[in-house]
Amino acid sequence: MKIAVVGGGSTYTPELVDGLAALPITELTLTDPASDRLAVVGAMAARMFAKAGHPGTVRWTTDLADAVEGASAVLLQLRVGGQRARLADETWPLECGCVGQETTGAGGLAKALRTVPEVLRIAERVRALAPGTWIVDFTNPVGIVTRALLDAGHRAVGLCNVAIGFQRLFARLLGVAPADLTLDHVGLNHLTWERAAWVDGTDRLPELLSGHPGELTEETELPADLVRGLGVVPSYYLRYYYTHDEVVAEQRRGPKRAEQVLDLERRLLAMYPDLSEKPALLEQRGGAHYSTAAVDLLTSLLGDRGDTQVVNLRNGGTLPFLPDSAVIEVPARITAAGLVPLPVRPVEPLFSGLIAHVTAYEELALSAALHGGRARVEAALLAHPLVGRYDLARRLTDRLLAANRDHLPWA
Ligand code: G6P
Ligand code: MN
Repeated sequence: MKIAVVGGGSTYTPELVDGLAALPITELTLTDPASDRLAVVGAMAARMFAKAGHPGTVRWTTDLADAVEGASAVLLQLRVGGQRARLADETWPLECGCVGQETTGAGGLAKALRTVPEVLRIAERVRALAPGTWIVDFTNPVGIVTRALLDAGHRAVGLCNVAIGFQRLFARLLGVAPADLTLDHVGLNHLTWERAAWVDGTDRLPELLSGHPGELTEETELPADLVRGLGVVPSYYLRYYYTHDEVVAEQRRGPKRAEQVLDLERRLLAMYPDLSEKPALLEQRGGAHYSTAAVDLLTSLLGDRGDTQVVNLRNGGTLPFLPDSAVIEVPARITAAGLVPLPVRPVEPLFSGLIAHVTAYEELALSAALHGGRARVEAALLAHPLVGRYDLARRLTDRLLAANRDHLPWA
């Protein structure tokens, strides 16, 4: 079994390789246009496999075709424009009083515009060289990218670590095994709520809400009384909505996440040549449990396990207030034949309204990414619940286009 990682030169890769080393892989290929980083990370991945006593080979190449040809699964974890482009996404929205974030709001739109064409280009190569393979997308914004892949007819699924993070946290707080805890996780990628935590047929979420407010506040970075009042646990990304102006003030004061990550990456890349296992420093990146989620998903897709995991996939009537073609993030049954979302109990208006609103934005964002043009960018921003005003949409569009000229041929 060959597995390919596109964006394999990422400093995250050792996290992924740590998990992949548990799978019966004959060949792991890493590909990335950044040849220097790829060489450092690739050599470390090879040492990790060797240290784990894994018989598979690890290869790295800047040639995408060589990397993906004949792969059973292709993982996408790329970042067009790198952390520099992310730094811009986190900066110019602040000039308009809007949150500066790589997946949420205007910065997330910029990332979608840069990323979708590149991911589709890669996916076409994958289709030609590894027909029928699974494309597992970690590339943000995962909801929009997954929708683009599915619309283009690819066999794709989107993955994020938010759900598995809550599953692990809740299980730890309750003293149960993670596998024994099932989430009622609903929404879109980076716009989700945990409505229940089922253990042996009992919803233990009320107990978590009343017994562990401090841990939930720490994880969600939302006020404890807000979470208590909602009666569900929102993902960390809801802070960009529920506490938008506080986050803007904090972002104006503090260092940007991209700056912190650039510094972390420098330190990690300096350490990697001497390492054959992932360092504790890597935990300071946001990718906790990514490799567990990836390994679980690959095992079920390729091994036909039929278990339940939270993924990004077509709505297909699961959330009746959204178009069938929308991509949603919910628990699904995972088999070799594909992914089937589990039925979702009716979604309360407090959540369904925002989900529908952001779905409309995502549809317009995808249209802008595919076809370009200032008017489509403005329309997507006008549809976004965090923008929604014409003057603001126009000012953000000016800045988005100015900051992304190198990445958008039509801008
Ligand atoms: C979480 C999100 C990912 C995101 C990451 C950012 O894991 O689910 O989608 O890429 O955080 O982490 P970073 O270390 O790059 O800030
Ligand atoms: Mn994510």
